[in-house]
Amino acid sequence: MLETKSRSAALYERALQLMPGGVSRNAVLRKPHPLYVEKGEGCWVTDVEGVRRIDFANNMASLIHGHAHPAIVAAVTAQLRKGSAFTLATEQEIELAEHLIGRTPSFEMIRFVNSGTEAVMSGLKAARAFTGRPRIAKVEGAYHGMYDYAEVSQTAKPHNWGDPEHPASVPVCHGTPQAALDDVVVIPHNDSERAARILDECGDSLACILIDVMPHRVALLPAAPEFLRTLRGWATAHGALLVFDEVITYRSEYGGAQAWYDVRPDLTAMGKIIGGGFPVGALAGRRDVMSVMDPHAAQVRFPHSGTFSANPVTMVAGLTALKLFDEAAVARLNGLGDRARAGAAEAIRIADVPACVTGRGSLLRLHMKAEPPTDYRSSFATAPETARLQALLDHFFASGIMMINTGTAALSTAMTEVEIDRFAESLLDGLRKLKTL
Ligand SMILES: Cc1ncc(COP(=O)(O)O)c(C=O)c1O
Repeated sequence: MLETKSRSAALYERALQLMPGGVSRNAVLRKPHPLYVEKGEGCWVTDVEGVRRIDFANNMASLIHGHAHPAIVAAVTAQLRKGSAFTLATEQEIELAEHLIGRTPSFEMIRFVNSGTEAVMSGLKAARAFTGRPRIAKVEGAYHGMYDYAEVSQTAKPHNWGDPEHPASVPVCHGTPQAALDDVVVIPHNDSERAARILDECGDSLACILIDVMPHRVALLPAAPEFLRTLRGWATAHGALLVFDEVITYRSEYGGAQAWYDVRPDLTAMGKIIGGGFPVGALAGRRDVMSVMDPHAAQVRFPHSGTFSANPVTMVAGLTALKLFDEAAVARLNGLGDRARAGAAEAIRIADVPACVTGRGSLLRLHMKAEPPTDYRSSFATAPETARLQALLDHFFASGIMMINTGTAALSTAMTEVEIDRFAESLLDGLRKLKTL
């Protein structure tokens, strides 16, 4: 019999000749090949084979309203007719700036960029420019994008992560300058005592502490309030800044996940949902710190620019998405998140397999571990756990559900209890299958 190749397989063959690994972002890789998309609508995605799946990945948590929301499509289409990028300022950037500054009390001024990586990089450079200090501290395992300094230790492994009292500065990329590694101090998540001891050894050399209050790669574990208070207190006492990375977590509350805490960051990096489905990043925070970018200053401490920064297409998409994501919409979505996590916990209990679920708000993550992890090291998946997670993700995919490849789900307002319950049912089936493997 003549075997016909799927359209995705044929497309991937072409792509392999053109792009390393056949892709421009590793997140879309799947075995034996990535699937290619035809279209998305609400919480559904259809691939080029015509197969529909419920989208729990939402372009790596960046689509808060799912796909092709009619209001966003209309706003973007109207803007496209007027042009997509200019060497002139636009009113649209002022409107999105006003909206975001009105949403989050720690925001006094803001600048837009094109990605979360760029937002975090800008935050670190602003902190250095403000303090005149080179070094930063960050949490072991936390992902903050691709800037040399921000990515240190993100992929640390048991053979190279070192003593827990002094986690090693492990490079992600071959050839990372030793100087970059030396300028990054790694602290453990949610361990106030150890973190304070490590920070104390840095004296007054740190420009900032960079922290994600619910780091996806650190098991999606919310920061303990006491941990954040320790970091805030230490930073203030030593003239360093506290920089939050809310690239993922800004979706968690109306004013971002920082609303969960009585601690205020000096700067916040954002991305993902604030662009309404278009490439975006932003850095917001204290007026005096943000002023390092002021081009009118006698001495500009941090000249900051970007060809597509604050382009009006992203600005109108972001503003439309955020206006729709009002307090009622946030509460409804977080309610669905609670239902999903409860459904997952119940499925795990019924199936009686070693697994657990973490997360808060509209995010959850599944782990193939009986005990919920407490930090990066305890969340690190063993080879058998990784294999079981992959089998579960394949089951989800086959049963019409798309997840992020870490076992994470990011909900969208296009979902209802029907899709959430379908997720929990599919999980129960998948866990039962795992028992038979
Ligand atoms: C917490 C966090 N920071 C930064 C980034 C980088 O954002 P981008 O992929 O837009 O560069 C990501 C991306 O997933 C992220 O999750």
